[in-house]
Amino acid sequence: MTLVPQIDGERLLGRLDAFARIGETPAGGVNRQAFSVEDRSARRLLAELALARGFSVFQDGMANLFIRREGSDATLPPLLIGSHLDSQPTGGRFDGALGTLSAFEALEALEDAQAETHMPIEVVAWVNEEGSRFAPGVMGSMAFTGADTEAWKSLVGSDGACLAGELEATIAALPEAAPRPVGMPISGYIELHIEQGPSLEKEQLPIGVVTAVQGTRWLEVSIQGSAGHAGTTGLAYRRDPMVAAAAAMHALQATIMPLDTSARLTVGRIAAQPGSINAIPQSVTFTVDLRHPQPERLDAIEAEVRRVCGAEAKAQDCTVTIRRSFDMPGAAFSPAMISIVEAAVGSLHLPHKRMVSGAFHDALFIARVAPAAMIFVPCRDGLSHNEAEYVEPADAVTGARVLLQAAIAAASAH
Ligand code: GLV
Ligand code: MN
Ligand code: MN
Repeated sequence: MTLVPQIDGERLLGRLDAFARIGETPAGGVNRQAFSVEDRSARRLLAELALARGFSVFQDGMANLFIRREGSDATLPPLLIGSHLDSQPTGGRFDGALGTLSAFEALEALEDAQAETHMPIEVVAWVNEEGSRFAPGVMGSMAFTGADTEAWKSLVGSDGACLAGELEATIAALPEAAPRPVGMPISGYIELHIEQGPSLEKEQLPIGVVTAVQGTRWLEVSIQGSAGHAGTTGLAYRRDPMVAAAAAMHALQATIMPLDTSARLTVGRIAAQPGSINAIPQSVTFTVDLRHPQPERLDAIEAEVRRVCGAEAKAQDCTVTIRRSFDMPGAAFSPAMISIVEAAVGSLHLPHKRMVSGAFHDALFIARVAPAAMIFVPCRDGLSHNEAEYVEPADAVTGARVLLQAAIAAASAH
């Protein structure tokens, strides 16, 4: 008798709880930033669970983690399913973990049923998706798809740690994982993720079939003025980069998003040097995260950011330098893989809609080398990158069921 592979909802929810305890914050979120001790613990737990089930575990030179279940034809490249285990500094329990643990649950469901797939299936936990400790994000999938990683070797993180050392320590912390070169042929990729926005919840839809991801650009704006005494330097003598930064941020927030409802502009980090209470700063540096579905609008918005920052710096007799630290053009997913996901949703009779992702994901890069698609589930109030991020247990399990059906179909394609 052949068993039908079934998601074990209790097991999946228990795993989500167990992983949420690694790096848990007092406010109920997680702080499990890339390459940290907490990130290493989560990777270890996943590897131990995998080895206990008899799966093979690999990691590549970028610390991407792979868990393999063989198919009937070992010569075929594997189908990859997964997401990431790292989090924002005040992140939620589901961003990344849901997709990674649901993928592992799908692999276990196949194993429980002794079901045979044509292709091997590998669960992947991409490294440093978030990019908050070490920018840019999606490092693991970028490296996997052939990005030049040379410049990352000298990267210093937001906490002063060096990427090279942290990467080496992360790999060394998991000697049970067999080493693998970075990048390999794959048959396809499917990623389950929370929407991180409000639309599915608002429309009471349990599933979003993601057809594309909008583009992202990260800028680092550094305004240089002249350090001076807070008490003795009169207005006429000041070259204050903080005044220029505040004016630029105000002008940009007052125009970019109000004039274009598809645009997103976020200043998430600002630092003043030397950062002394009673000194006019020598320089102020802030980040700008820009998103837009249309590449030409992203170009135009970046040009506007440059113009405004230049003008406001000049008005304070300061100078400005702007560095583009990340450029991730948006992309559409493979129609074939979207159809496989849609068929899985249909076979489970689930209401759904097609949608474009506002957040970036590893699937965006993987789509450059193989057919890829994503499945979204709703999250409460659309909250994400927030410790209060929450997914209804039933929605998490539904997402995993769709992932399992889609993976079975994709891994059986001849
Ligand atoms: C992903 O974490 C994003 O910022 O879109
Ligand atoms: Mn994520
Ligand atoms: Mn995220």
